[in-house]
Amino acid sequence: MSLLRQKIEQEIRERGPIPFSRYMELCLYDAELGYYSRNAKQFGNAGDFYTSSDVHAVFGRLLARQFDEMWRTLSSPASIELVEYGPGRGLFAQDVLDWSEKKFPDFFHALRYVLIESSPALRARINEILAHWLESGKAVLAKMDSLDIGVTSAIVFANEFFDALPVDILSTKGSLRIDARDGRFVETWAQASPEELEFLDRYSVHPEPDERIEAPLAAQQIMDNVAANIPHGFIVAIDYGYTREELLAGRHRGTLKAIRQHSISTNPYEAPGEQDITADVNFTALAAVAEKLGMQTHKLVTQSQFLMGIGEANQFADAFEECRLPQERAKVAMQLKHLVTPAGMGESFHVLVASKGVEKEKVAQLAGLNFARNR
Ligand SMILES: C[S@@+](CC[C@H](N)C(=O)[O-])C[C@H]1O[C@@H](n2cnc3c(N)ncnc32)[C@H](O)[C@@H]1O
Repeated sequence: MSLLRQKIEQEIRERGPIPFSRYMELCLYDAELGYYSRNAKQFGNAGDFYTSSDVHAVFGRLLARQFDEMWRTLSSPASIELVEYGPGRGLFAQDVLDWSEKKFPDFFHALRYVLIESSPALRARINEILAHWLESGKAVLAKMDSLDIGVTSAIVFANEFFDALPVDILSTKGSLRIDARDGRFVETWAQASPEELEFLDRYSVHPEPDERIEAPLAAQQIMDNVAANIPHGFIVAIDYGYTREELLAGRHRGTLKAIRQHSISTNPYEAPGEQDITADVNFTALAAVAEKLGMQTHKLVTQSQFLMGIGEANQFADAFEECRLPQERAKVAMQLKHLVTPAGMGESFHVLVASKGVEKEKVAQLAGLNFARNR
């Protein structure tokens, strides 16, 4: 029996059946044995899944272009913090810093890049990959509880972060609890909490018989902290997810998945600590928290619309800069296509932009929010 399974069973013996969110937290983030804590091999071809920065540096480069425009929209403050939540190995940060230094020197001069990563193994990789930037003080590695956005202007960025946070699961039987019997995890149900029911009432739907609906209360809590701490600036959150309208139309009801070696299963109880567990993001709920804390949110766009909006003006020159040979151009064109087109990641991922202290009309002019509008 795996050590993590033993540890979870021990906690269940001591506490009684645990909420699903606690089970998911232990599977992913137990400090020694959790899926994200124990090594840094989750990403890429040899790992379990790809994220956009694994595909090509153009993802970070296009976002650097958008961050530069956001910085100018904030009237080019002398210092700005770019705070990335859940940066994984730091590939995106590397691409943004490299490209900003090369292409957007004024923004780069003002920039300090803060990475908030909890996994010890991934923090060690960040220390290697970003050594040069960390030593120079351009980048800083922090943890969520020690974060203090010390400047007046900030851009908070998160790619595939909110979908990796623990969720609770609700059905007509109540809120899911995990018990252990005869070496197996067993599902039981407890009465849903007032917070869970309020979440369904406000941002989601109540489950029909045989349905399961997630209540991502940890994501709500983090968004609450982020939005409360931004003095003047933006949040850009990219993830697969849905709106309440889609739930009402019968889609995205029950999105919890386990992912291992690029294949998806619906069984989160298999091999705890060795597979990723994820749930799509409820963007309606995240946007509502940001608005409650004085931010303006902007129409959700697809990753495709967002990247097309940023890249179309110079025909994606950011992607092709190093290509000398036609074969190199062809390869990069395929990678770009994967990021942008519906068959790749372009339509399944959405981008939520929230702003504070900036005129809504100015935000609406941002390249990433303009592609959809111009058509
Ligand atoms: C799916 S990965 C995404 C990594 C990266 N953004 C990318 O696109 O490649 C989710 C990341 O969020 C991190 N994470 C989850 N909860 C966290 C928390 N509370 N504080 C900091 N990092 C966290 C995980 O360790 C992991 O690196």
